[in-house]
Amino acid sequence: MRVRHFIVVSCCFVLFTVPLLSSSVSQNEPSMSLGHNIIIQQARPGPDRPGPPDFHLHIWPGVKSSRILDFRRVPPVAGRVVNMTKEIRDVTRDKKLWRTFFISPANNICFYGECSYYCSTEHALCGKPDQIEGSLAAFLPDLALAKRRTWRNPWRRSYHKRKKAEWEVDPDYCEEVKQSPPYDSGTRLLDIMDMTIFDFLMGNMDRHHYETFEKFGNETFIIHLDNGRGFGKHSHDELSILVPLSQCCRVKKSTHLRIQLLAKEEYKLSALMEESLQTDTLSPILIRPHLEAMDRRLRLVLQVLADCIEKEGYSNVVEDDLVTEGTNTGTVPQR
Ligand SMILES: *[C@@H]1O[C@H](CO)[C@@H](O)[C@H](O)[C@H]1NC(C)=O
Ligand SMILES: *[C@@H]1O[C@H](CO)[C@@H](O)[C@H](O)[C@H]1NC(C)=O
Repeated sequence: MRVRHFIVVSCCFVLFTVPLLSSSVSQNEPSMSLGHNIIIQQARPGPDRPGPPDFHLHIWPGVKSSRILDFRRVPPVAGRVVNMTKEIRDVTRDKKLWRTFFISPANNICFYGECSYYCSTEHALCGKPDQIEGSLAAFLPDLALAKRRTWRNPWRRSYHKRKKAEWEVDPDYCEEVKQSPPYDSGTRLLDIMDMTIFDFLMGNMDRHHYETFEKFGNETFIIHLDNGRGFGKHSHDELSILVPLSQCCRVKKSTHLRIQLLAKEEYKLSALMEESLQTDTLSPILIRPHLEAMDRRLRLVLQVLADCIEKEGYSNVVEDDLVTEGTNTGTVPQR
């Protein structure tokens, strides 16, 4: 019963794993071998997100859209209230994490964790007084069983106010990425393109890192753990999120077919999302304008790809992954 690992974070999230409490999983449960760590992820109020975040709105729909898009790169997530004292502070053996706990002037339990940006008492996460809502990602194998490797997203944003990222100033940036491992072989670059589309649909511009399971080496799927930044402003489409796609002009055939399908009236992404979210006990679900924004953004993705195909030719843009992977794209999307 201890925190095995404290995954460091991002600008605005604390992400770490704690063991699932035995009340939730029986001791003899075979699924224990899957690992019983959970991730608690809680959005911090950030520059573009003042006030307390609504994690239902921001994290859970990401899992749903990942499933509908058939990417399945986000572990199952559920929201619940966590007792910060009992379930985090008292069980952690991570001294660094433990040391950042404090009691606020308003007598709430707070902590700020360890991270590269915005980790200070001003950006602490505070309970009320010791209860905090978090999103718990289940069945992520214990790190002792399956180490994860964290990769910097080549298209991460510059976190310096006055310094632009390389991709912002160099239109040929993708050529450079394509030549460096692990993007020079296998499907990694195409996986990043999938991630780009996923993030654009959700309006998540905070994808600075992603992970893989170390055991599988470089040629493996990627996982997105930190999806908390999505579904901010529904009226705004952040086109800069699509830059990797417009710079690289590459997409998996399975993804291209799927988004074409989800743009059709019968399988409209918004309708599938709405249906899928309705069966959940979690509420509130995404409001209509967020769902409509996803349809609108999907059309923008298709437009970028259409421009690429016109410019570079279909076979240079669309990579046929259907032969090797045997995916079932083209069939009715799963809810
Ligand atoms: C949280 O856990 C602490 C320590 O076990 C306990 O004293 C406290 O009452 C709990 N808070 C709530 C609201 O249950
Ligand atoms: C995996 O990718 C890294 C780049 O981060 C590279 O240094 C390494 O050589 C690659 N390994 C293989 C086996 O290609």
